[in-house]
Amino acid sequence: MSSREAVNERIRMGGNKELEGNFHHIAFRDGALVLLDQRKLPREETYLECRTEGEVAEAVKTMVVRGAPAIGIAAGYGIALTAACHAHKGADAQREALEGAARTLGATRPTAVNLFWAIEKMMSHVDKSDSAPEALADELLRLAREMHEEDAAVCRRIGDLGAGLLPERCSVLTHCNAGALATGSYGTAGGVIRSGFRDGRVREVYVDETRPFLQGARLTAWELSRDSIPVVLITDSMAAHCMGLGRIDAIVVGADRVAANGDVANKIGTYGLAVLAREHGVPFYVAAPTSTIDMESKRGADIPIEERPGEEVRSFGGVPVAPEGVRVYNPAFDVTPARFVDALITEKGVARLTEGESLDSILD
Ligand code: MRU
Repeated sequence: MSSREAVNERIRMGGNKELEGNFHHIAFRDGALVLLDQRKLPREETYLECRTEGEVAEAVKTMVVRGAPAIGIAAGYGIALTAACHAHKGADAQREALEGAARTLGATRPTAVNLFWAIEKMMSHVDKSDSAPEALADELLRLAREMHEEDAAVCRRIGDLGAGLLPERCSVLTHCNAGALATGSYGTAGGVIRSGFRDGRVREVYVDETRPFLQGARLTAWELSRDSIPVVLITDSMAAHCMGLGRIDAIVVGADRVAANGDVANKIGTYGLAVLAREHGVPFYVAAPTSTIDMESKRGADIPIEERPGEEVRSFGGVPVAPEGVRVYNPAFDVTPARFVDALITEKGVARLTEGESLDSILD
């Protein structure tokens, strides 16, 4: 796709909102879920249409769409698609198909709890509703759209609350992509950065490239640059050196699941950053909606950690960089113990577990 076509496509998707990411990466149009294919960024801006829950599940698994809130939103639309596709078959067949869709979507990525939160929300509506099949399909699409819009509002609130924690004109480091692309829009950690930049608190953003999938280099650097937020891209192994030089004033990351004791599962490499931050006296903040808090996981060890294909590590940008078939361990996430997290920023407030606050107070 030429860059002119890409711009036209973006306009077609309804993008170009000030400081909101300047793109729409998830949209429901003409009976399809339309996703910006994040695997191809930043080289190409192409969109993929999903018309069944199977296609949505594949898009989640292969990371066309990724980031905890974004995959929850995609799953919500996936369930709405199933309801519409099976409405003509009658109530029983539609409900059976919906149960199947919930299982298919729930089997895609195990760590991000927002996926299960969204599926649960959609299916509890199905359980409560006695509407006829067509009406149920309309209700589920409305609910999926509401979840999408609500996530964008939640991210703005997280961003504005988190920005207040940052010092004036600071350099922030972030890991992976917890920006607009990973959410309904605006971002969680990305939202803190956006609001902080708007308020003159963020001067520049150090972005870890985030091996092996390169969400930092490919996605965060791309989306922040589009909002004209200054980016300095570094490899993951440079973060300690940058902290040692005093170049980093704060670290803000997202989360895939926060356990009841405040332990945080997030993109592999986050734990190391948190330990380094403590050593260097750099505040370490986690920004996440309350839908990412899982009170059923009592501690980090209870959180299932996704393992991804070895090929992601054996190659770099599709080019082999290791002996063919060499054994690989590729956990996609790690767990940062709560004691390393200076504050958890949610849409309902900021919790400082290191000072004895509990997550219950936020969830009430
Ligand atoms: O494997 P990914 O790209 O889905 O991992 C994403 C992350 O780890 C994000 O930091 C997390 O989902 C928070 S997104 C607001």
